[in-house]
Amino acid sequence: MTQRYDYIVIGSGIAGLYAALLARRHGSVCVLTKGGIDECNTRYAQGGIAAAVGSDDDSALHLQDTIAAGAGLVDAEAARILVEAAADRIHDLVDFGVPFDSTDGEVQLGREAAHSRNRILHAGGDSTGAHIELSLGGLARMSRITIKEYVQVEELVVEHGRCTGVLAMDTRTSATERFDAAAVVLATGGCGQLFRVSTNPDVTTGDGIALAYRAGAEVEDMEFIQFHPTALRMPGVPIFLISEAVRGEGGVLRNAGGEGFMPRYSEQAELAPRDVVARSIVSEMAATGTDRVYLDVRHLDAGRIRARFPQIYRYCFGHGLDITREPVPVSPAAHYLMGGVRTNTWGETTVRGLYACGEVACTGVHGANRLASNSLLETVVFAKRVVQRSLAASGEAAPPTDGALELPAYGQEGAGAPDRPSLQDLMWDTVGIVRDGDGLRQATRQLAAWRAGLPLAHDRPSHELSNLLLVGRLMAEAALLREESRGAHFRTDFPEPRDGWRRRLVFRRAA
Ligand code: FAD
Ligand code: SIN
Repeated sequence: MTQRYDYIVIGSGIAGLYAALLARRHGSVCVLTKGGIDECNTRYAQGGIAAAVGSDDDSALHLQDTIAAGAGLVDAEAARILVEAAADRIHDLVDFGVPFDSTDGEVQLGREAAHSRNRILHAGGDSTGAHIELSLGGLARMSRITIKEYVQVEELVVEHGRCTGVLAMDTRTSATERFDAAAVVLATGGCGQLFRVSTNPDVTTGDGIALAYRAGAEVEDMEFIQFHPTALRMPGVPIFLISEAVRGEGGVLRNAGGEGFMPRYSEQAELAPRDVVARSIVSEMAATGTDRVYLDVRHLDAGRIRARFPQIYRYCFGHGLDITREPVPVSPAAHYLMGGVRTNTWGETTVRGLYACGEVACTGVHGANRLASNSLLETVVFAKRVVQRSLAASGEAAPPTDGALELPAYGQEGAGAPDRPSLQDLMWDTVGIVRDGDGLRQATRQLAAWRAGLPLAHDRPSHELSNLLLVGRLMAEAALLREESRGAHFRTDFPEPRDGWRRRLVFRRAA
């Protein structure tokens, strides 16, 4: 039996919940999410959300910083929309109950790398995402929105070129049901689970990108994955982000010999763009023969550290590390996908009736490298535009790209299907922070062979593995084609940016 709604929203992170809360004013809404409602990247966001709301700031400066971080590939119009809508979307979040931190009625504004002003709003110190998820999730549960947890979308239904619904499986019973809607909104997040070391939770398996690609939508900028410089590295302790805001407060990175090394790599030192800091750490680890460096906050006021970063302080303390007395062992981890399902500035994909917002979407605002805390902002700015557009235009689509590429066929035999850790090892070793042509070629062939040998997916893990393999292939192929280094994409065989590469790579499945 088919269930019908005006809107199907896939995913219950900030993008999905915010879109659903707006859409419910205009029609019936069903949110499908493959885990519990708060199993998503959003819940783990620490630093906060960027908006030029300080008295010394304005959206033009925010735009300038965003464009500079994106290393020549930012879509200027999309970025302008992003920064100009920021203050209004922050007001919406406040109206939805997000308790941003303030002092004497003035919102507190933190600093993060490559921002020229303090412009990061946060909640609960370093628990911004948890507060957002709690506020929006609570409201959604109390509203007329239908929320179906533990339901994984496994296919988008496209009829006569238009997306009319989805096929989704109840992961507890394995029963598959069809859901139809006038508007299908992908809000499925990123693909950090592609890598052995990642800040992203288990659900982050690139499903939305794989679903959209299989449905004929275009995906772009897949070579640009951001590695966060500082994830906690302690033996036996699950990976945990140590927010960039810690460096924004004055934390210093030291190598195994105790040297503060960042000034050797960049004038901006600890506040250089993320890709620069991540690569500097990799280089220091290699030079000193260790698998970690240290983030030192011992010179900062201990009370201030505990108050500003209560979650980080508690997590480390719970694992026997008092960060006010000992340096924090850290190393880089896969964190955020700049690319994704290509959309126009209204969140329309190249398939009619199919919208995308949040990390799954590629609006072009981040270019080759995302400015810290611009991603939570992007989710709400473009989720709002998706809902606006769904009212104004029924099932338009973004125009297709001339010269979109197809995945090459290598005519290989299928190899036995890998498990997730083998795939993550391959991606980390060959499509990671530092890449080269030989490694990328090896990855593309191996991924193609693994995909060819994959049995039909039948449950959540096998669907996720199949999606990861497809998304990994798109990433590796794009990284192999881009014979230059730009933003988060760094190749030792082409270590500089090249003018001819000031363009984006778009993939579309052969019809
Ligand atoms: P998510 O929050 O990841 O939600 C995706 C949802 O889709 C989940 O509910 C998932 O279960 C569901 N889903 C996926 N596939 C399917 C399927 N097939 N069927 C049904 N449901 C599906 N950004 C900032 O701007 N500031 C920060 O301070 C910040 N800190 C971060 C800290 C950490 C540790 C991490 C991991 C990320 C951080 N980011 C930060 C990035 C930011 O949190 C994410 O980009 C953002 O939350 C993405 O929101 P989303 O709604 O698009 O996706
Ligand atoms: C962090 O707090 O360092 C994460 C911020 C982000 O990813 O934007």
